[in-house]
Amino acid sequence: MPLVNTREMFEKAYKGGYAIGAFNVNNMEIVQGITEAARECNAPLILQVSKGARSYANHTYLMKLVEAAVIETGLPIALHLDHGDSFELCKSCIDGGFTSVMIDASSKSLEENIAITKEVVDYAHKYNVTVEAELGTLAGVEDEVQVKAEDSSYTRPEDVEEFVTRSGCDSLAIAIGTSHGAYKFKPGTKPQLRFDILEEVSRRLPGFPIVLHGASSVPQEFVELVNRFGGNMPGAIGVPEDQLRQAASMAVCKINIDSDLRLAMTASIRQYMVEHPADFDPRAYLKPGRANIQAMVKHKIIDVLGCNDKI
Ligand code: G3H
Ligand code: 13P
Ligand code: ZN
Repeated sequence: MPLVNTREMFEKAYKGGYAIGAFNVNNMEIVQGITEAARECNAPLILQVSKGARSYANHTYLMKLVEAAVIETGLPIALHLDHGDSFELCKSCIDGGFTSVMIDASSKSLEENIAITKEVVDYAHKYNVTVEAELGTLAGVEDEVQVKAEDSSYTRPEDVEEFVTRSGCDSLAIAIGTSHGAYKFKPGTKPQLRFDILEEVSRRLPGFPIVLHGASSVPQEFVELVNRFGGNMPGAIGVPEDQLRQAASMAVCKINIDSDLRLAMTASIRQYMVEHPADFDPRAYLKPGRANIQAMVKHKIIDVLGCNDKI
């Protein structure tokens, strides 16, 4: 099966009350850990590449790793550009074989966001590539861009119909209280996503797939391992899994996870290094990292996304 776009997987996810996992990939072990978990679960999958990942690992290497995963697993996999910040970057990924792109012009005015999104949509649809756009701003770090919590803003439901109709985008990322990175909520406060905004958005856009960024749950067992084995991540807190499950049962069809992959990999590498100070074979410490990712992604697919056996 070739790489697929996100159209059919979102249609099924919307109707079935589950979400597709969109996992960020940066190297071979991350691709393998994620795709082996999806194979175990018989789950469709989105593998996404940020601008930073593309400059770290190179477009062709990532493309070929994902193609290898398709050959090895036979799963329907979409290869998606995460947080594309320009028409040129989106075009380059479309021309280079990606099946889905995000154009993130959420920091611009509504008019500018519509204009640049439409330009990407007009190009992408010629090649059967699906386009995700964003309305509202999440706090946190994406590539070189750092958005402070006070500059973030929830999506305004009153903008969504005009935005989707005029831009022609295929899915929409909205801001309902998640943020990028491992420090999403202040310690001692109760994390709470704005399901009222999600409900109002989906009432205005019936059947339209919504995307949730910043959706790592920051498993505390990994934070504890990192801290126990020489790391320093006090107060790292993510989105509670039950709230992600609730979002997946509503209009959210794509849930983005990167920080949890980083944590799973880093926790086991830190542990391995401390426990085996004389070892210097990268395979020895990358192997448990990859296994940690696989186990975590399997848990997410089954218990959080509700996406097992959906092929
Ligand atoms: O949304 C951001 C993703 O976690 C990608 O992060 O830009 O550091 O690759 P990155
Ligand atoms: P996390 O930092 O919560 O993993 O979010 C990842 C993301 O939204 C990628 O676009
Ligand atoms: Zn994101």
